Amino acid sequence: MSDIDESPEIPAARRALESDVETLLDLKDRALATAAEGITIADARLPDMPLIYVNDGFERITGHRANDVLGRNCRFLQGPDTDPDAAEEIRSAIREQRPCLVEILNYRIDGSPFWNRLSITPVRDAAGTVTHYIGVQSDITVRREAEDALADANRRMRRDLDAAARIQQSLLPDHAPELPGLDVAWSFRPCTELAGDTFNIFLLDDGSIGFYIIDVSGHGVPAALLSVTLWHTLSPAGGRSWLLEPDEERDAEAVAMSPADVVTRLNRSFQMQPDRMQFFTMIYGIFDPDHRTLRYATAGHPPIILVPRSGDPRTLPTGGIPAGMLEEASWHELIVDVVPGDRLYLYTDGVIEASNERDGEFEIDRLVDELGTRRMLPLRASVDATRSRVEEWCGADEPADDVTILALEVTS
Ligand SMILES: Cc1cc2nc3c(=O)[nH]c(=O)nc-3n(C[C@H](O)[C@H](O)[C@H](O)COP(=O)(O)O)c2cc1C
Repeated sequence: MSDIDESPEIPAARRALESDVETLLDLKDRALATAAEGITIADARLPDMPLIYVNDGFERITGHRANDVLGRNCRFLQGPDTDPDAAEEIRSAIREQRPCLVEILNYRIDGSPFWNRLSITPVRDAAGTVTHYIGVQSDITVRREAEDALADANRRMRRDLDAAARIQQSLLPDHAPELPGLDVAWSFRPCTELAGDTFNIFLLDDGSIGFYIIDVSGHGVPAALLSVTLWHTLSPAGGRSWLLEPDEERDAEAVAMSPADVVTRLNRSFQMQPDRMQFFTMIYGIFDPDHRTLRYATAGHPPIILVPRSGDPRTLPTGGIPAGMLEEASWHELIVDVVPGDRLYLYTDGVIEASNERDGEFEIDRLVDELGTRRMLPLRASVDATRSRVEEWCGADEPADDVTILALEVTS
Protein backbone atom coordinates (compact mmCIF):
# COMPACT_ATOMS: atom_id res chain seq x y z
CA MET A 1 0.00 0.00 0.00
CA SER A 2 1.38 3.38 -0.96
CA ASP A 3 1.92 6.12 1.57
CA ILE A 4 -0.17 8.49 -0.42
CA ASP A 5 -3.57 7.40 -1.57
CA GLU A 6 -4.48 8.67 -5.01
CA SER A 7 -7.45 10.88 -4.54
CA PRO A 8 -10.43 9.95 -6.73
CA GLU A 9 -10.43 13.53 -8.10
CA ILE A 10 -7.01 13.22 -9.80
CA PRO A 11 -8.01 11.06 -12.85
CA ALA A 12 -10.96 13.37 -13.37
CA ALA A 13 -8.68 16.43 -13.26
CA ARG A 14 -6.24 14.78 -15.69
CA ARG A 15 -9.09 13.93 -18.05
CA ALA A 16 -10.32 17.51 -17.88
CA LEU A 17 -6.79 18.77 -18.61
CA GLU A 18 -6.34 16.35 -21.53
CA SER A 19 -9.64 17.43 -22.94
CA ASP A 20 -8.60 21.11 -22.58
CA VAL A 21 -5.34 20.39 -24.41
CA GLU A 22 -7.25 18.57 -27.18
CA THR A 23 -9.63 21.50 -27.47
CA LEU A 24 -6.72 23.90 -27.69
CA LEU A 25 -4.96 21.81 -30.33
CA ASP A 26 -8.17 21.49 -32.26
CA LEU A 27 -8.64 25.25 -32.05
CA LYS A 28 -5.08 25.80 -33.34
CA ASP A 29 -5.70 23.36 -36.20
CA ARG A 30 -8.86 25.19 -37.16
CA ALA A 31 -7.14 28.55 -36.88
CA LEU A 32 -4.30 27.38 -39.14
CA ALA A 33 -6.78 25.89 -41.59
CA THR A 34 -8.96 28.96 -41.86
CA ALA A 35 -6.15 31.54 -42.07
CA ALA A 36 -6.20 33.53 -45.31
CA GLU A 37 -2.42 33.16 -45.52
CA GLY A 38 -0.69 30.01 -46.59
CA ILE A 39 1.07 28.35 -43.67
CA THR A 40 3.69 25.70 -44.34
CA ILE A 41 6.10 23.71 -42.21
CA ALA A 42 9.25 22.11 -43.61
CA ASP A 43 11.39 19.59 -41.77
CA ALA A 44 14.96 20.89 -41.55
CA ARG A 45 16.32 17.53 -40.48
CA LEU A 46 15.26 15.69 -43.62
CA PRO A 47 17.18 15.83 -46.90
CA ASP A 48 16.08 18.75 -49.16
CA MET A 49 13.86 20.11 -46.41
CA PRO A 50 10.46 18.74 -47.49
CA LEU A 51 7.09 20.19 -46.56
CA ILE A 52 5.39 18.24 -43.79
CA TYR A 53 2.38 20.50 -43.38
CA VAL A 54 0.44 22.92 -45.56
CA ASN A 55 -2.81 24.57 -44.53
CA ASP A 56 -5.97 25.22 -46.55
CA GLY A 57 -4.80 28.79 -47.23
CA PHE A 58 -1.77 27.41 -49.08
CA GLU A 59 -4.06 25.19 -51.16
CA ARG A 60 -6.31 28.15 -51.95
CA ILE A 61 -3.45 30.43 -52.96
CA THR A 62 -1.47 27.94 -55.05
CA GLY A 63 -4.15 25.51 -56.25
CA HIS A 64 -1.93 22.60 -55.13
CA ARG A 65 -3.49 19.84 -53.00
CA ALA A 66 -1.72 19.10 -49.71
CA ASN A 67 -1.33 15.41 -50.57
CA ASP A 68 0.54 16.26 -53.78
CA VAL A 69 3.04 18.59 -52.17
CA LEU A 70 3.85 17.06 -48.80
CA GLY A 71 7.29 15.50 -48.99
CA ARG A 72 8.48 18.01 -51.64
CA ASN A 73 10.64 21.10 -51.30
CA CYS A 74 8.55 24.23 -51.80
CA ARG A 75 10.71 25.49 -54.68
CA PHE A 76 8.21 23.88 -57.08
CA LEU A 77 6.29 27.17 -56.83
CA GLN A 78 9.06 28.99 -58.66
CA GLY A 79 9.11 29.37 -62.43
CA PRO A 80 10.63 31.09 -65.45
CA ASP A 81 10.25 34.72 -64.28
CA THR A 82 11.07 34.16 -60.64
CA ASP A 83 13.82 36.58 -59.65
CA PRO A 84 16.94 34.50 -58.88
CA ASP A 85 17.97 37.16 -56.32
CA ALA A 86 14.81 36.50 -54.28
CA ALA A 87 15.50 32.75 -54.31
CA GLU A 88 19.10 33.46 -53.33
CA GLU A 89 17.93 35.57 -50.38
CA ILE A 90 15.87 32.61 -49.10
CA ARG A 91 18.79 30.23 -49.71
CA SER A 92 21.24 32.32 -47.73
CA ALA A 93 18.72 32.90 -44.89
CA ILE A 94 18.25 29.14 -44.59
CA ARG A 95 22.02 28.61 -44.74
CA GLU A 96 22.49 31.15 -41.95
CA GLN A 97 19.45 29.84 -40.06
CA ARG A 98 17.85 33.28 -39.81
CA PRO A 99 14.35 34.47 -40.65
CA CYS A 100 13.70 36.17 -43.98
CA LEU A 101 10.97 38.10 -45.76
CA VAL A 102 10.87 38.26 -49.56
CA GLU A 103 8.43 39.14 -52.31
CA ILE A 104 8.84 36.44 -54.91
CA LEU A 105 7.02 35.62 -58.15
CA ASN A 106 5.50 32.14 -57.88
CA TYR A 107 3.24 30.07 -60.11
CA ARG A 108 -0.05 28.38 -59.29
CA ILE A 109 -0.75 24.82 -60.39
CA ASP A 110 -2.49 26.15 -63.52
CA GLY A 111 0.69 28.03 -64.48
CA SER A 112 -0.63 31.49 -63.67
CA PRO A 113 1.86 33.72 -61.83
CA PHE A 114 1.19 35.38 -58.48
CA TRP A 115 3.23 37.58 -56.16
CA ASN A 116 4.02 35.81 -52.92
CA ARG A 117 5.05 37.75 -49.83
CA LEU A 118 6.90 34.94 -48.10
CA SER A 119 8.22 34.93 -44.57
CA ILE A 120 10.29 32.00 -43.40
CA THR A 121 11.21 31.52 -39.73
CA PRO A 122 13.42 28.83 -38.20
CA VAL A 123 12.05 26.84 -35.23
CA ARG A 124 14.62 25.54 -32.69
CA ASP A 125 14.42 22.70 -30.20
CA ALA A 126 15.44 22.98 -26.55
CA ALA A 127 19.11 22.52 -27.53
CA GLY A 128 18.88 25.40 -29.98
CA THR A 129 19.07 23.20 -33.09
CA VAL A 130 16.91 24.25 -35.99
CA THR A 131 14.46 21.44 -36.56
CA HIS A 132 11.80 23.09 -38.74
CA TYR A 133 11.01 26.16 -40.77
CA ILE A 134 7.62 27.82 -40.81
CA GLY A 135 6.66 29.58 -44.03
CA VAL A 136 3.82 32.09 -44.30
CA GLN A 137 2.64 32.90 -47.84
CA SER A 138 0.46 35.91 -48.71
CA ASP A 139 -0.85 36.56 -52.19
CA ILE A 140 0.01 40.23 -52.81
CA THR A 141 -0.61 40.19 -56.57
CA VAL A 142 -3.27 42.92 -56.45
CA ARG A 143 -1.00 45.23 -54.45
CA ARG A 144 2.01 44.58 -56.70
CA GLU A 145 -0.07 45.17 -59.84
CA ALA A 146 -1.36 48.44 -58.38
CA GLU A 147 2.20 49.46 -57.50
CA ASP A 148 3.43 48.54 -60.98
CA ALA A 149 0.59 50.50 -62.60
CA LEU A 150 1.41 53.48 -60.37
CA ALA A 151 5.12 53.26 -61.20
CA ASP A 152 4.21 53.10 -64.92
CA ALA A 153 1.94 56.10 -64.61
CA ASN A 154 4.69 57.98 -62.74
CA ARG A 155 7.23 57.10 -65.42
CA ARG A 156 4.86 58.30 -68.15
CA MET A 157 4.12 61.51 -66.27
CA ARG A 158 7.83 62.17 -65.69
CA ARG A 159 8.54 61.58 -69.38
CA ASP A 160 5.76 63.99 -70.34
CA LEU A 161 6.96 66.60 -67.86
CA ASP A 162 10.53 66.28 -69.14
CA ALA A 163 9.30 66.67 -72.72
CA ALA A 164 7.16 69.67 -71.73
CA ALA A 165 10.13 71.22 -69.88
CA ARG A 166 12.31 70.75 -72.96
CA ILE A 167 9.67 72.40 -75.15
CA GLN A 168 9.41 75.27 -72.69
CA GLN A 169 13.20 75.70 -72.55
CA SER A 170 13.34 75.65 -76.34
CA LEU A 171 11.10 78.72 -76.42
CA LEU A 172 13.74 80.77 -74.68
CA PRO A 173 16.39 82.32 -76.88
CA ASP A 174 19.25 79.81 -77.18
CA HIS A 175 21.88 82.47 -77.73
CA ALA A 176 22.04 86.19 -77.22
CA PRO A 177 20.44 87.76 -80.31
CA GLU A 178 22.37 90.36 -82.34
CA LEU A 179 20.62 93.59 -81.53
CA PRO A 180 21.49 97.17 -82.48
CA GLY A 181 22.71 99.10 -79.46
CA LEU A 182 22.15 96.37 -76.87
CA ASP A 183 24.02 93.43 -75.38
CA VAL A 184 21.89 90.81 -73.71
CA ALA A 185 22.48 88.03 -71.18
CA TRP A 186 20.18 85.96 -69.01
CA SER A 187 19.85 83.13 -66.58
CA PHE A 188 16.80 80.96 -66.19
CA ARG A 189 16.36 78.34 -63.49
CA PRO A 190 12.92 76.79 -63.03
CA CYS A 191 12.22 75.53 -59.49
CA THR A 192 10.30 72.52 -60.75
CA GLU A 193 10.57 70.98 -64.20
CA LEU A 194 8.15 73.53 -65.59
CA ALA A 195 8.41 77.23 -64.99
CA GLY A 196 5.91 80.04 -64.54
CA ASP A 197 8.62 82.50 -65.58
CA THR A 198 9.25 83.44 -69.17
CA PHE A 199 11.03 86.23 -71.03
CA ASN A 200 12.05 87.25 -74.51
CA ILE A 201 13.85 89.99 -76.37
CA PHE A 202 13.39 90.69 -80.07
CA LEU A 203 13.87 93.23 -82.80
CA LEU A 204 10.63 94.85 -83.89
CA ASP A 205 10.07 95.85 -87.51
CA ASP A 206 10.28 99.56 -86.70
CA GLY A 207 13.90 99.06 -85.54
CA SER A 208 13.17 99.23 -81.83
CA ILE A 209 13.81 96.34 -79.48
CA GLY A 210 10.98 94.79 -77.49
CA PHE A 211 11.59 92.76 -74.37
CA TYR A 212 9.61 91.38 -71.48
CA ILE A 213 9.81 89.28 -68.39
CA ILE A 214 6.74 87.53 -66.98
CA ASP A 215 6.13 85.63 -63.75
CA VAL A 216 2.88 83.67 -63.58
CA SER A 217 1.51 83.05 -60.08
CA GLY A 218 1.89 79.50 -58.78
CA HIS A 219 4.17 76.76 -60.05
CA GLY A 220 4.23 73.64 -62.12
CA VAL A 221 1.97 72.71 -65.01
CA PRO A 222 -0.80 75.35 -64.58
CA ALA A 223 1.72 78.21 -64.30
CA ALA A 224 3.78 76.84 -67.20
CA LEU A 225 0.74 76.54 -69.47
CA LEU A 226 -0.18 80.19 -68.99
CA SER A 227 3.44 81.27 -69.24
CA VAL A 228 3.87 79.45 -72.59
CA THR A 229 0.56 80.89 -73.85
CA LEU A 230 1.71 84.40 -72.99
CA TRP A 231 5.04 83.73 -74.71
CA HIS A 232 3.19 82.70 -77.89
CA THR A 233 0.82 85.63 -77.66
CA LEU A 234 3.76 88.02 -77.55
CA SER A 235 5.68 86.29 -80.35
CA PRO A 236 5.25 87.56 -83.89
CA ALA A 237 3.25 85.05 -85.97
CA GLY A 238 4.17 84.77 -89.65
CA GLY A 239 6.43 87.80 -89.38
CA ARG A 240 3.56 90.01 -88.13
CA SER A 241 3.19 91.08 -84.57
CA TRP A 242 0.32 92.83 -82.81
CA LEU A 243 3.06 94.57 -80.86
CA LEU A 244 3.31 96.91 -83.84
CA GLU A 245 0.48 99.23 -84.79
CA PRO A 246 -0.04 101.66 -87.66
CA ASP A 247 1.25 105.13 -86.97
CA GLU A 248 -1.83 107.11 -87.98
CA GLU A 249 -0.40 110.52 -87.13
CA ARG A 250 2.58 110.26 -89.39
CA ASP A 251 1.01 107.86 -91.85
CA ALA A 252 4.22 105.95 -91.68
CA GLU A 253 5.07 102.30 -91.27
CA ALA A 254 3.83 100.53 -88.20
CA VAL A 255 5.40 101.53 -84.89
CA ALA A 256 5.81 99.66 -81.66
CA MET A 257 2.71 99.66 -79.54
CA SER A 258 3.11 101.52 -76.27
CA PRO A 259 4.18 99.19 -73.41
CA ALA A 260 1.20 100.32 -71.33
CA ASP A 261 -1.15 99.27 -74.16
CA VAL A 262 0.58 95.89 -74.47
CA VAL A 263 0.06 95.17 -70.77
CA THR A 264 -3.53 96.43 -70.91
CA ARG A 265 -4.28 94.15 -73.84
CA LEU A 266 -2.76 91.10 -72.16
CA ASN A 267 -4.67 91.93 -68.99
CA ARG A 268 -7.98 91.94 -70.88
CA SER A 269 -7.22 88.69 -72.69
CA PHE A 270 -6.03 86.76 -69.65
CA GLN A 271 -8.43 87.58 -66.86
CA MET A 272 -8.54 85.25 -63.88
CA GLN A 273 -11.40 82.76 -63.89
CA PRO A 274 -13.05 81.35 -60.75
CA ASP A 275 -11.52 77.96 -61.59
CA ARG A 276 -8.20 79.46 -62.61
CA MET A 277 -7.07 82.02 -60.04
CA GLN A 278 -3.98 82.92 -61.98
CA PHE A 279 -2.46 86.31 -62.51
CA PHE A 280 0.94 87.40 -63.68
CA THR A 281 3.43 90.13 -63.03
CA MET A 282 5.40 91.51 -65.93
CA ILE A 283 7.54 94.22 -67.39
CA TYR A 284 7.23 95.03 -71.05
CA GLY A 285 9.75 97.46 -72.47
CA ILE A 286 10.86 99.00 -75.74
CA PHE A 287 14.38 100.23 -76.28
CA ASP A 288 14.90 102.80 -78.96
CA PRO A 289 18.53 102.43 -80.06
CA ASP A 290 18.54 105.75 -81.95
CA HIS A 291 17.46 107.91 -79.05
CA ARG A 292 18.68 105.56 -76.31
CA THR A 293 15.43 105.71 -74.44
CA LEU A 294 13.71 102.96 -72.64
CA ARG A 295 9.91 103.02 -72.44
CA TYR A 296 8.36 100.44 -70.21
CA ALA A 297 5.33 99.44 -68.18
CA THR A 298 5.38 97.29 -65.08
CA ALA A 299 2.51 95.22 -63.72
CA GLY A 300 3.14 94.27 -60.10
CA HIS A 301 6.66 93.21 -61.03
CA PRO A 302 9.79 93.95 -58.97
CA PRO A 303 11.54 97.07 -60.29
CA ILE A 304 14.20 97.14 -62.98
CA ILE A 305 17.63 97.73 -61.49
CA LEU A 306 19.72 100.29 -63.37
CA VAL A 307 23.45 99.89 -62.93
CA PRO A 308 24.73 103.04 -64.63
CA ARG A 309 28.09 103.30 -66.33
CA SER A 310 29.06 105.58 -63.50
CA GLY A 311 27.27 106.31 -60.27
CA ASP A 312 25.29 104.20 -57.88
CA PRO A 313 22.96 101.43 -58.97
CA ARG A 314 19.28 102.09 -58.30
CA THR A 315 15.81 100.76 -58.90
CA LEU A 316 13.64 102.37 -61.58
CA PRO A 317 10.09 103.49 -60.82
CA THR A 318 7.29 100.93 -61.02
CA GLY A 319 3.53 101.22 -61.27
CA GLY A 320 0.42 99.16 -61.71
CA ILE A 321 -1.08 96.02 -60.26
CA PRO A 322 -0.36 92.52 -61.62
CA ALA A 323 -2.14 91.65 -64.85
CA GLY A 324 -5.10 89.29 -64.98
CA MET A 325 -6.67 90.51 -61.74
CA LEU A 326 -8.92 93.39 -62.69
CA GLU A 327 -10.39 93.82 -66.15
CA GLU A 328 -10.58 97.63 -65.96
CA ALA A 329 -7.05 98.13 -64.65
CA SER A 330 -4.74 100.37 -66.61
CA TRP A 331 -1.02 100.99 -66.67
CA HIS A 332 1.08 103.93 -67.57
CA GLU A 333 4.26 104.22 -69.50
CA LEU A 334 7.55 105.13 -67.85
CA ILE A 335 10.52 106.51 -69.73
CA VAL A 336 14.16 106.55 -68.87
CA ASP A 337 17.14 107.82 -70.86
CA VAL A 338 20.23 105.68 -70.88
CA VAL A 339 23.81 106.05 -72.08
CA PRO A 340 26.28 103.50 -73.41
CA GLY A 341 27.61 101.35 -70.58
CA ASP A 342 24.37 101.50 -68.58
CA ARG A 343 23.01 98.14 -67.55
CA LEU A 344 19.42 97.20 -66.86
CA TYR A 345 18.54 94.08 -64.90
CA LEU A 346 15.09 92.53 -64.96
CA TYR A 347 14.41 89.56 -62.71
CA THR A 348 11.56 87.69 -61.12
CA ASP A 349 10.68 87.63 -57.43
CA GLY A 350 12.31 84.19 -57.13
CA VAL A 351 15.59 86.13 -56.98
CA ILE A 352 14.78 88.56 -54.18
CA GLU A 353 12.59 86.12 -52.26
CA ALA A 354 15.20 83.35 -52.32
CA SER A 355 15.68 82.59 -48.64
CA ASN A 356 17.45 80.54 -46.05
CA GLU A 357 16.19 79.83 -42.57
CA ARG A 358 18.91 81.82 -40.78
CA ASP A 359 19.11 85.02 -42.82
CA GLY A 360 15.67 85.20 -44.41
CA GLU A 361 15.14 86.58 -47.91
CA PHE A 362 17.81 87.79 -50.31
CA GLU A 363 15.88 91.06 -50.74
CA ILE A 364 16.12 93.77 -53.27
CA ASP A 365 18.75 95.96 -51.54
CA ARG A 366 21.19 93.05 -51.51
CA LEU A 367 20.50 92.42 -55.19
CA VAL A 368 21.13 96.10 -56.03
CA ASP A 369 24.46 96.00 -54.12
CA GLU A 370 25.37 92.67 -55.67
CA LEU A 371 24.81 93.94 -59.21
CA GLY A 372 26.68 97.14 -58.40
CA THR A 373 29.76 95.25 -57.21
CA ARG A 374 29.62 93.06 -60.35
CA ARG A 375 29.77 96.17 -62.54
CA MET A 376 33.32 95.43 -63.65
CA LEU A 377 32.47 91.93 -64.87
CA PRO A 378 31.29 91.31 -68.42
CA LEU A 379 27.46 91.32 -68.60
CA ARG A 380 27.10 87.52 -68.90
CA ALA A 381 29.50 86.93 -65.99
CA SER A 382 27.61 89.44 -63.83
CA VAL A 383 24.41 87.45 -64.40
CA ASP A 384 26.07 84.10 -63.68
CA ALA A 385 27.76 85.40 -60.54
CA THR A 386 24.47 86.86 -59.26
CA ARG A 387 22.64 83.62 -59.87
CA SER A 388 25.37 81.68 -58.03
CA ARG A 389 25.12 84.14 -55.15
CA VAL A 390 21.34 83.58 -54.95
CA GLU A 391 21.83 79.81 -55.00
CA GLU A 392 24.49 80.06 -52.29
CA TRP A 393 22.08 82.18 -50.27
CA CYS A 394 19.54 79.35 -50.35
CA GLY A 395 22.22 76.94 -49.11
CA ALA A 396 21.04 73.37 -48.94
CA ASP A 397 17.45 74.47 -49.67
CA GLU A 398 16.71 74.69 -53.35
CA PRO A 399 15.23 78.04 -54.45
CA ALA A 400 11.49 77.73 -53.84
CA ASP A 401 10.57 79.74 -56.93
CA ASP A 402 11.82 80.12 -60.50
CA VAL A 403 14.91 82.30 -60.66
CA THR A 404 15.15 84.38 -63.84
CA ILE A 405 17.47 87.28 -64.59
CA LEU A 406 17.50 89.20 -67.87
CA ALA A 407 20.27 91.76 -68.33
CA LEU A 408 20.64 94.44 -71.03
CA GLU A 409 23.66 96.65 -71.57
CA VAL A 410 23.53 99.74 -73.76
CA THR A 411 26.38 99.64 -76.23
CA SER A 412 27.72 102.54 -78.24
C1 LIG B 1 8.84 26.50 -44.87
C2 LIG B 1 9.28 26.97 -46.23
C3 LIG B 1 8.35 27.54 -47.11
C4 LIG B 1 8.73 27.97 -48.36
N1 LIG B 1 7.80 28.53 -49.18
C5 LIG B 1 8.17 28.97 -50.39
C6 LIG B 1 7.22 29.56 -51.26
O1 LIG B 1 6.06 29.72 -50.95
N2 LIG B 1 7.64 30.00 -52.47
C7 LIG B 1 8.95 29.88 -52.87
O2 LIG B 1 9.27 30.30 -53.97
N3 LIG B 1 9.87 29.31 -52.06
C8 LIG B 1 9.52 28.85 -50.85
N4 LIG B 1 10.45 28.30 -50.01
C9 LIG B 1 11.85 28.29 -50.43
C10 LIG B 1 12.28 27.11 -51.22
O3 LIG B 1 11.77 25.94 -50.63
C11 LIG B 1 13.81 27.03 -51.23
O4 LIG B 1 14.27 27.03 -49.90
C12 LIG B 1 14.42 28.21 -51.97
O5 LIG B 1 14.05 28.11 -53.31
C13 LIG B 1 15.96 28.23 -51.92
O6 LIG B 1 16.48 26.97 -52.02
P1 LIG B 1 16.95 26.25 -53.41
O7 LIG B 1 18.10 27.04 -53.90
O8 LIG B 1 17.33 24.90 -52.92
O9 LIG B 1 15.80 26.26 -54.32
C14 LIG B 1 10.09 27.84 -48.77
C15 LIG B 1 11.01 27.29 -47.89
C16 LIG B 1 10.61 26.85 -46.64
C17 LIG B 1 11.62 26.25 -45.72
